[in-house]
Amino acid sequence: MHANIVLLPGDGIGPEVVAEGRQVLEAIAKSGGHTFTFTEHLIGGIAIDTHGTALTDETVEACRKADAILLGAVGGFKWDNPSAAVRPEQGLLRIRQELGLFANLRPVKIFPQLVDSSPVRPERLKDVDLMFVRELTGGIYFGKPQLRETVDGKTRAVDSMVYTDDEIRRVVRLAFRLAQGRRKKVTSVDKANVLETSRLWRTVAAEVAAEFPDVTLENQLVDSAAMRLIQNPASFDVVVTENMFGDILTDEASVLAGSLGMSPSASLSEGKLGLYEPIHGSAPDIAGKGIANPIGTILSVAMLLRNSLGLEAEAKAVELAVARALEAGARTADLGGKSSTSEMGALIRQKMAG
Ligand code: IPM
Ligand code: MG
Repeated sequence: MHANIVLLPGDGIGPEVVAEGRQVLEAIAKSGGHTFTFTEHLIGGIAIDTHGTALTDETVEACRKADAILLGAVGGFKWDNPSAAVRPEQGLLRIRQELGLFANLRPVKIFPQLVDSSPVRPERLKDVDLMFVRELTGGIYFGKPQLRETVDGKTRAVDSMVYTDDEIRRVVRLAFRLAQGRRKKVTSVDKANVLETSRLWRTVAAEVAAEFPDVTLENQLVDSAAMRLIQNPASFDVVVTENMFGDILTDEASVLAGSLGMSPSASLSEGKLGLYEPIHGSAPDIAGKGIANPIGTILSVAMLLRNSLGLEAEAKAVELAVARALEAGARTADLGGKSSTSEMGALIRQKMAG
């Protein structure tokens, strides 16, 4: 097949890990007779330095025309001031919204080779295989009004958590469809004892559940879900939740896997187009040292092959190769080892070849 892939390496370790992701895609193209065309664009701090904005209209257009997008990370010390008018994160938020990437999939799977790297006891990690579906284009991240004003001599700030039933329905449906191909259980996480948006969320989740009689729905409050993630992570299958709850819970969940550097993500739209990125950030403290873990990006490439290109066998082959590289003992610094980014990438590609 032919696919047009946009690379957005971004800042910090982004370019280092995206380079490894690209090489995995090139290896897949070569062995499977596919043609993948790559075009690179700027996003985040580097785009601010070059164009004065974290994401240009040209880049948005290029992404719109692509079959899939692979992103590294955005941000760094240089652009750290949260009060600045232009910030790297704006690039990420804009691309999500412009492309309608409403569903953020963040799987958490524990490689048996890494149970000792996890802060959670090995017996609790057994059989952990969960899929987070985080709503990504609504809620308090985008709700209006968002402002700061002075009222009666007091400065006050406002953020608004807003959801429509349609926004909830499409993401909950996607979670149920995923559950059908897994262990057929959806946990919908909300704060329905306090928030009106959560009460609507719960109502819509119940309506969607009625469309999927083969899948079980359970509702859980976000605070107790946070606790259960550590106490009994294996009890979850698919977890669906709103934007900010998902932001927080997925960082928590990624620690189960031993390192933030291991976790991939996919941000999906209504169509085939998706944006794929490791969930870790730009890690400016280790940028340029060649020691970043490329596995989060390489597993994101597997999700890209599966979700945007429909290449399931190739996706599995990449995931298997990662397991084999870990089996062979390769460990980057975040996993307590000495493998460099490119050594880890090269070993994974070698394992893909057989
Ligand atoms: C994430 C990040 C982003 C988010 C930031 C960088 C805006 O934390 O992808 O989880 O909050 O969504
Ligand atoms: Mg986050």
